Amino acid sequence: MRVHAIAPGRVNLIGDHTDYLGGLALPMAIDRATEVLGERGGDHVVLRSAELEGEVRLPVDAPLDTMLSLVGADHWGRYVAGVVAELRPTTGFEGALRSTVPVGSGLSSSAALEVAIALALGHDGTTRSLAELCQRAEQSASGVPCGIMDQLTSAAGIAGHALLMDFGHDTITPVPVPDDLDIVVVHSGESRTLAGSAYATRRAECERAESLIGPLRSAALADLDGLTDPLLRRRAHHVITENQRVRTFAEALRARRAVEAGRLMVESHASLRDDFEVSTPTLDALVARLAATPGVHGARLTGAGFGGCVVAVTEPGALDLGWRVLPSEGARLLDASQPSDQVAGGGGFAEPSS
Ligand code: GLA
Repeated sequence: MRVHAIAPGRVNLIGDHTDYLGGLALPMAIDRATEVLGERGGDHVVLRSAELEGEVRLPVDAPLDTMLSLVGADHWGRYVAGVVAELRPTTGFEGALRSTVPVGSGLSSSAALEVAIALALGHDGTTRSLAELCQRAEQSASGVPCGIMDQLTSAAGIAGHALLMDFGHDTITPVPVPDDLDIVVVHSGESRTLAGSAYATRRAECERAESLIGPLRSAALADLDGLTDPLLRRRAHHVITENQRVRTFAEALRARRAVEAGRLMVESHASLRDDFEVSTPTLDALVARLAATPGVHGARLTGAGFGGCVVAVTEPGALDLGWRVLPSEGARLLDASQPSDQVAGGGGFAEPSS
């Protein structure tokens, strides 16, 4: 059976380091995506990439550790192994993948890869179960105890909309992105190499704060009095204020109050820099430069931090750098009999050679 699956990357407009605490975020799927095209059958998953090195060849029934040692450290095949181990497809797959999501930039290239592969290998549950499966795959492939935002955005994207996610109540509310706003992503030039261990440390610090004052998603600023450790106070202060900023930002976006939305983005960046300490001097300088540019409403780091990308909300055409991204549809199967040139960029699709 011939299959063609596509899954987008994402950018988060506001609400970072809140998903694994049952908080709020407002990401959107973007018009950069990963595609998988091939044939189901056999007892191995065999994939080649148009852009990335190497071929991945994994027995569908091998233990995860065996698959991970077959692909080696830092290889994109780890994410394939993670999905195969979680999905345990009844048949194999042979095909090719290509992607227009830049790797290591904080636009969730790994989530797009996992979601596209899970669909290609035959996942047939709900959007949420697809995202949960891919979140587990990401955690086992990377060792990072990530939340579900990236995989859920890739799976659930809606054209023209950002997604107001409430991770405590498992709800997604679409919020239209006004046509007269540009969403622009600018790479800082720093790839996110330290993200893994620092991410786990931040998560553990928040969980320590929660063991002292209860769930941060429902905490108020007054609850910070229960934290004597200044570091835990700062971490908790970020989470409590960030959740509130997401709510206010979503209202501002709905009401087309772009200046207010931009101000909230700048406040969010300051909170990630000072309270959560996941920014870098390069990201700070880039945000300051963008925010001071005429026509830019606001800018902030997006995703985990420690390098990667900044997102800016601007008047149309205000920035002539970075990539303008459009709020896009989520992952889906395409008609595999149609030509495979549906995604911009990415060059030719490398068909399997055997
Ligand atoms: C990474 C994780 C997400 C989320 C963000 C920070 O992208 O994969 O789950 O925690 O960082 O908001």
